[in-house]
Amino acid sequence: MQEFQFFTEKALSFDKLDPLASFRSRFIAEKEEMIYLDGNSLGRMPLETEIKMKSVISQQWAKGLISSWNDHWFDLPQKIAAKLAKILGAHPDEIFVGDSTSVNFYKLAFGALKMQQGKNNILTDNLNFPSDIYLLQGIISQSFPEHRLQIVQSKDGIAVEQEDIAHALNEKTALLTLSHVAFKSAFMYNMSEINELAHQKNTVVLWDLSHAVGSVPIRLNADGADLAVGCTYKYLNGGPGAPAFLYVRRDLQDKIVNPIWGWFGHRKPFDFSLDYLPATQSSQFAAGTPHILSLSALEPGLDIILEAGINNLWEKSRMQSDFLFEMTKQFLEPLGFSIASPIEAEHRGSHISLRHNEGWRISKAMIDPHQDTKSIIPDFRPPDVIRLGIAPLYNSFTDIYECVKRLHEIVKHEYYLSYDQTKSIVT
Ligand SMILES: Cc1ncc(COP(=O)(O)O)c(C=O)c1O
Repeated sequence: MQEFQFFTEKALSFDKLDPLASFRSRFIAEKEEMIYLDGNSLGRMPLETEIKMKSVISQQWAKGLISSWNDHWFDLPQKIAAKLAKILGAHPDEIFVGDSTSVNFYKLAFGALKMQQGKNNILTDNLNFPSDIYLLQGIISQSFPEHRLQIVQSKDGIAVEQEDIAHALNEKTALLTLSHVAFKSAFMYNMSEINELAHQKNTVVLWDLSHAVGSVPIRLNADGADLAVGCTYKYLNGGPGAPAFLYVRRDLQDKIVNPIWGWFGHRKPFDFSLDYLPATQSSQFAAGTPHILSLSALEPGLDIILEAGINNLWEKSRMQSDFLFEMTKQFLEPLGFSIASPIEAEHRGSHISLRHNEGWRISKAMIDPHQDTKSIIPDFRPPDVIRLGIAPLYNSFTDIYECVKRLHEIVKHEYYLSYDQTKSIVT
């Protein structure tokens, strides 16, 4: 059995050889007394974003005022969509950027059900994000009362068997909607195989890419994807409440209708005609005025991902999670932790979930610096899951080493007992 010293050296040597190591300085200016393992929830701010936003606010907004719409802003959603399209393996005209993931999910789920007349089953799984399920419940309750929502159950709370999805699909399934990477366990579906299974039943598939985009390679066109949504504030580092995106495959764009007919989705919004005429391509999924400040803040995060290369990021993420697993097995499993994410890298995104029946108090102890240790920021998902988001752009192997060492100390010395069970609003 190796001691901690062995893993310190291993982490240091991995960091030394890491070809992406220099990206950390694009996010963290100086030595920090914090280890941030929550990039799967809210990514770090690229330093470039602060510089850019100062100029957007003081030049474009304060000085340019209304003229900035023509000079900088009107085409900004398309410019950002083109960059996202590269990350998503899609054409720029298939992407709309704006609104929240929930609102975009509503537009596409509603549009897909209208398009799939004669079929009245909707299929999802119980690893999906609650907002998506609420939206489906709302759509059924308000607009499609004959439809039925079927939720495929995971057997272990970590993964869903592909064959269980295959069994549940039938000729009546109008829509299958899944998270590509599950928010709790990081389980990842094989997108192309699921699309193929669904297409055999003429079922439309709507993917939620929120935990996948920027963490794993995505090839929407090559994998035959129909529809997708996702957020940009996690691994894309777009900032709190950053605009979300949606994707509609080219050949579906004249079949699916946006249920929200706002003026920015009109073909000629500045004609101010009183009759709605949808824009072509993905621009028809716009509704109101674009969120210019948050769209501007998103751009540096996308540029950094494109520069680093998603395949390189994924390779580093897999090495980092293997390192985390190795240390977890040795130091944490004997203390009551268990791994609640798939072990095989091809079935997993970039966060790792650890379960412990004292998960909440342990995560509080991690955040609170103790003696000479740094604050370590994970997040917590009920009832007992500590999520460790590995963001290879700015997390080092040493961060992971220090996190495991700290978890070991907290449980071995029962430091968590001095924290109470009170939960904060955002966990
Ligand atoms: C997988 C997933 N889907 C949907 C959402 C909801 O996103 P929004 O708040 O942008 O509507 C989230 C939020 O974290 C998420 O993780």
